[in-house]
Amino acid sequence: MFESLETAKPDAILGLTEAFKKDPNPAKINLSVGVYADAEGKTPVLSSVKKAEERILKQEKTKGYLPIPGDPQYGAAVQELLFGKGHEIVASKRAATAHTPGGTGALRVAGDFVKTMFPGKKMWMSDPTWPNHPGVFSAAGLEIETHPYFDAANNSLDFKAMMAAVEKIPKGDVLLLHGCCHNPTGIDPAPDQWRKIADVIQQRGILPLVDFAYQGLGVGLVEDATGLLELCRPGCEMLIASSFSKNFGLYRERVGALTVVGSSEEGAQKALGHIKTCIRANYSNPPSHGGAIITTIIGDPDLRKEWEGEVKGIRDRINGMRTLFVDTLKAKGVKRDFSFIKNQRGMFSFSGLTKEQVERLKKEYAIYIVGSGRINVAGMTPGNMDRLCEAIAAVL
Ligand SMILES: Cc1ncc(COP(=O)(O)O)c(C=O)c1O
Repeated sequence: MFESLETAKPDAILGLTEAFKKDPNPAKINLSVGVYADAEGKTPVLSSVKKAEERILKQEKTKGYLPIPGDPQYGAAVQELLFGKGHEIVASKRAATAHTPGGTGALRVAGDFVKTMFPGKKMWMSDPTWPNHPGVFSAAGLEIETHPYFDAANNSLDFKAMMAAVEKIPKGDVLLLHGCCHNPTGIDPAPDQWRKIADVIQQRGILPLVDFAYQGLGVGLVEDATGLLELCRPGCEMLIASSFSKNFGLYRERVGALTVVGSSEEGAQKALGHIKTCIRANYSNPPSHGGAIITTIIGDPDLRKEWEGEVKGIRDRINGMRTLFVDTLKAKGVKRDFSFIKNQRGMFSFSGLTKEQVERLKKEYAIYIVGSGRINVAGMTPGNMDRLCEAIAAVL
C-alpha cells in the first residue's frame, strides 16, 4: 500500500532547514525558519525558564493526566498575559482557556470548533499569511478565503484594500488576525487602523480569531496587545490562539492556548464545552511541562521580572539587527532603499528579494531564505552581517 504512494512534498520552510543542516559550507546562514537565535547563532534556554524547571522538578508529585483544558492556574496566567490584570473580560469570567500543544494546536482546535459548531462558516486570512495557516484550517475542513494585506510597491499595509474586503465578510464568518508582528511581512496595523478593523467586526458580526504568536517581540508585552485589546469591547466574542514558543523560547515543549471570549460567562463555558469535545477527539489532553513553566514564571514576581527582561533582550537584539542590516547594505553599496525593514516588527521581514535571487543566495552563498523573500531577522548576527549583505549586494 505504501510503496505505491506519491512522495509527499516536504514542508516549504522546515524542508529548507533540513537542506541547511546538510550544507557543508561552514559560513552558511539560515534565515528561513522562525526560530530566535542569539548573537552567537544559538537558540538559548531562557534563564527564567531553567529556574522554573528546577523548581518544577523538585515539587512535581504526579504524572497523572491533566484535565482536558489543562491546569486552571495556567489558564489564569494566559489570560493575565493577554488582557492584563483585572480586565473586565477576566473579572466577568467571560473568557475560558484551554492549554494546547503549541499555537498550532490552538489554531487547529479553533478550526475544529468552528467547523463542527458553525458549519458553512468560512475562514478569512490575509494574503500573504503564515504558510501553515491554510494547511491547518483546510485540514479542519474549513473553506478558506483571503483578503489583501501587503502593498508591495510601498512595503506597507494596503489598509484600503484590506478594509474593502473585510467590509464584505458575511456575518458569522471568521477573520484570522495576527495579534502583532505579522508573519511574513512584519507589518502590523497602526492603533487607529485596529480601531477601524474592530468597528467593522462589531458592525458586521464577524468572529475574530487572533493568532498571537509573538507577544513581546514587537514593541513590548503590553504594547503588542494593542490590537487585541481594541477588539475587547463590551459583549464581544472572540477566539485567541496563543503561542509561547517564541517569547518563552519553548519551541519544542509545544505550549500554547486557545482562549474563547463569550459575551457572557455562560457563552464562554458553553463554547469551552465544545472545545473540550474537539480536544478529546484529537490529543485528549495537553502535555504538562511547558504550561507548568509558564504558570511558575507568571506566578512568581522575581522570575516574571527576569523573564520580562529576557523578552526585552530578544526584542532589542532583533530590532538592533534590523538597523545594522539596513546600514550594512548601504555601506556595501546597495542603492535600493531597504529602510522599510527598520519599521517592520517581529522576527520577519519581507525583503522584496525575488525567487531567483533567493535561489542564487542558497546555491552560491549557502544563505537560506524562504522563496517568498521572507527573512528571519533573528538569524542575523554581527558576525554574519558583512557576508550576508555582500551576498545580497551581489545578487541584486
Ligand atoms: C503566525 C504564527 N502563528 C502560530 C505559530 C505557531 O507556533 P507554535 O505552534 O510553534 O507554538 C507560528 C510559528 O511559527 C506563527 O508564526
